[in-house]
Amino acid sequence: MARGHSLLFLVLIVVALAQLPALVVVSGEPQVPCYFIFGDSLVDSGNNNGLVTAAKANYPPYGIDFPQGVTGRFTNGLTIADIIGQLLGFDKFIPPYSNVTNQEISTGVNYASGGAGIRDESGSQLGDRISFNRQLVNHAAIISRLLLLQRNTTFTKEYVKKCIYISNIGNNDYINNYLMPNNYPTSRIYTVDQYAEVLVRQYSLQLRTLYNLGARKVAVFGLGLIGCTPAEIARFGTDGRPCVDSINDAVNRVNVRLKPLVDQLNSNFSDARFTFINLTSISTPPEGVTLPTEPCCQLRADGQCVPNSTPCPNRDLTIFYDGYHTTQIANIATATRSYTALSPNDASPYDISRLAQL
Ligand SMILES: *[C@@H]1O[C@H](CO)[C@@H](O)[C@H](O)[C@H]1NC(C)=O
Ligand SMILES: *[C@@H]1O[C@H](CO)[C@@H](O)[C@H](O)[C@H]1NC(C)=O
Ligand SMILES: *[C@@H]1O[C@H](CO)[C@@H](O)[C@H](O)[C@H]1NC(C)=O
Ligand SMILES: *[C@@H]1O[C@H](CO)[C@@H](O)[C@H](O)[C@H]1NC(C)=O
Repeated sequence: MARGHSLLFLVLIVVALAQLPALVVVSGEPQVPCYFIFGDSLVDSGNNNGLVTAAKANYPPYGIDFPQGVTGRFTNGLTIADIIGQLLGFDKFIPPYSNVTNQEISTGVNYASGGAGIRDESGSQLGDRISFNRQLVNHAAIISRLLLLQRNTTFTKEYVKKCIYISNIGNNDYINNYLMPNNYPTSRIYTVDQYAEVLVRQYSLQLRTLYNLGARKVAVFGLGLIGCTPAEIARFGTDGRPCVDSINDAVNRVNVRLKPLVDQLNSNFSDARFTFINLTSISTPPEGVTLPTEPCCQLRADGQCVPNSTPCPNRDLTIFYDGYHTTQIANIATATRSYTALSPNDASPYDISRLAQL
């Protein structure tokens, strides 16, 4: 394990250092005028703080490495969405929808919500959450506010076409739905393959709604290796393997359908650029490297950090902050590779830096 640690350190640090100049806050214009974020706890920046739900992270030790401390981000520091924003040249973090002012909406809004899924009911056993459908309703409201604010419909329509949109959703349709047969009937209604099909069909309609609201540059993140998270490993066991293979196999059935979906959207809407970000490719370590799976903080039964507990000191050597969520250093590695792909598998057909230029 010690060897695994030091190799991991090298892999992550090399990637992180290569991007350091870009991560230094730059003054000057961002590459695109605006940036909108949809998704779940991997990119939530505080939208759940006022909701009645267990899925919130507005307490220490979350935020221990974030400049403003605790914000509701489900990690020690920056999320993937924050880092992509910095790489795009935004000098401020995109504000959460729950808190955004009219002055701020023209540079973008973060709608993401911990516990949320493609399906409305996903995450409901934890309490309230803003499902992807509700995030789209919120986005429609923001577009209306922008139209009023900019007072020129033609201008606003052209303006929102230039923005980057990212969508990182679907993990809770497994973690907090299909994999919880006591709370949800989906695993009795659908086979693993049928469920992936149903999810992607719904996601397809939702992404078309996003297009109809003016989005033209959209990065669709595939699902992560949920079977490698400490919480799922503790729940299901791995039979001596590094991860819960059956879970990774289930979510991969979504991923293999998302790439063709992105291709279809690009050919049906010739003025749009959708791209698929392959988190499997991005987070699979090089041959022979074993990533540490121990979480950094002390876990509550639901996989989140115990409030006010002391986290591990070596957070830059750890992949998981809690039972499900990655540390800032892992997020830097993921975000930089989705921004500048290191392998043709990472992002297709475009990485985010290319998407911004198109
Ligand atoms: C909401 O806005 C207030 C005032 O601008 C700020 O103090 C607070 O930290 C914000 N909350 C979040 C979750 O960003
Ligand atoms: C509205 O915006 C369009 C596109 O930017 C511009 O050509 C036009 O002059 C604007 N109209 C007014 C009345 O400002
Ligand atoms: C693309 O267009 C084809 C043919 O009209 C249609 O069957 C398909 O559902 C469309 N797909 C998407 C994702 O819009
Ligand atoms: C994602 O990348 C992996 C390589 O790590 C590749 O095997 C897989 O086919 C890719 N998935 C998709 C949907 O393109």
